[in-house]
Amino acid sequence: MRFLTILLAAFLVLPICANAQNEPIVIATDDIALVYSVGDNGRLYQKYFGKKLNNTTDYAQISNMPEAYITHGMEDYFEPALHIVHTDANPSTLLKYVSHAQSVLSDGAKQTVITLADPVYKDEVQLYYVAYPAENIIKTHTIITNKEKKAIKLEKYASSMLHFNCNAYYLTQFDGDWAREVDMAEQKLEFGKKVIDTKLGARANMFVSPFFQVALNEPAQENQGEVLFGTLAWSGNFRFTFEIDQKGMLRVISGINPYASQYTLAKGESFRTPEFIFTLSMNGKGEASRNFHDWARQYQVKEGMGDRMTLLNNWEATYFDFNEEKLIGLIGEARELGVDMFLLDDGWFANKYPRSSDHQGLGDWLETKDKLPNGIGRLTAEAEKQGVKFGLWIEPEMVNPKSELYENHKDWVITLPNRDEYYFRNQLVLDLSNPKVQDYVFGVVDDLMTKYPDIAYFKWDCNSPITNIYSNYLKANQTHLYVDYVRGLYNVLERIKTKYPDLRMMMCSGGGGRTDYEGLKYFAEFWASDNTDPIERLFIQWGYSQIFPTKTICAHVTNWNRNASLKFRVNVAMMGKLGFDLKFADMNQNDIEYCKRSIKDYNRMKPVVLDGDLYRLVSPYSGEHTSSMYVDKTKKHAYVFAFDVFPRFDEQFRNVCLQGLDPATMYAVKEINREDGREGETRVYSGDYLMKVGLQLFTTGKLSSRVYEVIAQ
Ligand code: GLA
Repeated sequence: MRFLTILLAAFLVLPICANAQNEPIVIATDDIALVYSVGDNGRLYQKYFGKKLNNTTDYAQISNMPEAYITHGMEDYFEPALHIVHTDANPSTLLKYVSHAQSVLSDGAKQTVITLADPVYKDEVQLYYVAYPAENIIKTHTIITNKEKKAIKLEKYASSMLHFNCNAYYLTQFDGDWAREVDMAEQKLEFGKKVIDTKLGARANMFVSPFFQVALNEPAQENQGEVLFGTLAWSGNFRFTFEIDQKGMLRVISGINPYASQYTLAKGESFRTPEFIFTLSMNGKGEASRNFHDWARQYQVKEGMGDRMTLLNNWEATYFDFNEEKLIGLIGEARELGVDMFLLDDGWFANKYPRSSDHQGLGDWLETKDKLPNGIGRLTAEAEKQGVKFGLWIEPEMVNPKSELYENHKDWVITLPNRDEYYFRNQLVLDLSNPKVQDYVFGVVDDLMTKYPDIAYFKWDCNSPITNIYSNYLKANQTHLYVDYVRGLYNVLERIKTKYPDLRMMMCSGGGGRTDYEGLKYFAEFWASDNTDPIERLFIQWGYSQIFPTKTICAHVTNWNRNASLKFRVNVAMMGKLGFDLKFADMNQNDIEYCKRSIKDYNRMKPVVLDGDLYRLVSPYSGEHTSSMYVDKTKKHAYVFAFDVFPRFDEQFRNVCLQGLDPATMYAVKEINREDGREGETRVYSGDYLMKVGLQLFTTGKLSSRVYEVIAQ
């Protein structure tokens, strides 16, 4: 194992102790193992994290690495995972091993709980690990319990701490801004600390997403190299700290961002951190992504194994400028196109301050009478008549100061009592730490569902970070707000999921400002970006595909970048959960016919694209062309997408080798989804040929795209 290049000389080898305390605690999947061990001093150490060893007994021979969950105030000189200020103001904590227990959960995952406690203060820390064997995913969280006589203060409370001992470390982060989310940038880590965090509260991921990759020893490639993928399942402030010490060891600390978030724990109370979810691949990024995709579909995402609905959204087709008649027209277009659903976006609500722009109305969730005299009911009825489902945009965590909600319930708004308000997108955030506000937000959905039970889907938006930060409800505990806001949000989402289990929702936050795996327990999919320029989307979708399965990534065909053909735009969006944000008035008959055929093609492709294995063949970051393919689990059916973005003059092309097929099977390959409506010529190749010799996928056609169907004979 390359992590631990320093093997112990025989005289240093720890004896395999009969003493249960010194036996390694092994958290293993099919391929990887994270191993802890109790030292002679009774403290818990990480022993190993890497490729699983064949013999569990061999782990005992590996020397201990640093302490598993390092505490502030003891001998360590780098960043700790835990910092408690005790009742007597003592800021130090020492954790000793108490016990551990292993069990198999109902979903087949293997759980390990290691209990540690401070011998002086008795505070307890439980480290939870849940290992998913076949997917090689481990998720971990921590429960900290106050066993003192009075309240204690948590200054730092990480979900996870992992140690690595390698020759070099290469971090990939996913940062950006509105309309340029998840830009992938790799850097070599050197001595000291690299912190990736957010302080935005809500719309928390606007500048950086809560996931990362760390390649060990060498930069990771798509199909080779050791790489850690990690993500925090938390829709609020997160922090990842990567710190290299004087000996070249790396610690990775993941959790809620403790910035302005000191948390007071009353006597007897426990604090549960969010889950940190990770995998380690020995075969590059592609395998790590597929680990995540398989795990997410089966165990985490709402309706992870279920189908997805194609849709027509009116946002870019109308913005705020619509009325009942226009919408009925669009519902008809949805039916004619053949999509599953019509989604009505922003602008349908509020009367005193009608939502005619983003300056007013948020919070007043009753239909604007001028625009929709017959209410949402008229639209759901029309949708039913046309045989499409109906979805609706809401942004229930937010309020415009120009709204009746603000006028009547200013105490529900996060705002500083003694300063002028400042606004992000002309709005403020409601105080979800307050149970009454939670009831109100739940009520937005509940009232709509009660009145209009035919609503099949909500697009739940969240366009502002938390600004003017002060909670009227939390009073003296202001530093709980960032955490309690998110917990309040989850309370609401849990109630919605319980009462309306079949209701589908899209997680949206001014584009991709909220994209995390805890949110995806409640939302079947997310809006990846307001940027639907297909060229940009090739990068954005490539970025999200690192961690999220295709079926969670909403991709719409719009009029952004009309230099790209409609086919190019459609083909890019087919590599996600397909939708349209177009109206017939902007299209000619050929365009309309092409879209109709594409939706039929997509419906046929869905089982492979949404539930199959993704192989990223050529990265858009590598230059002029990009390609990805999807292979169903039986390896009988695959789709290959190829895009020429900026071909060069007299460019010489090399074949692209396909992946994930069965070498012994013969496959028929043909181009589908062509603009002329005809299918390409069928050619038959062995899987071996396709994976070793490959196909000529690219052309000199600027902004051109092709889709190939690969079917086992
Ligand atoms: C956000 C979303 C968009 C759209 C608008 C409506 O920006 O990301 O898709 O819904 O809000 O105001």
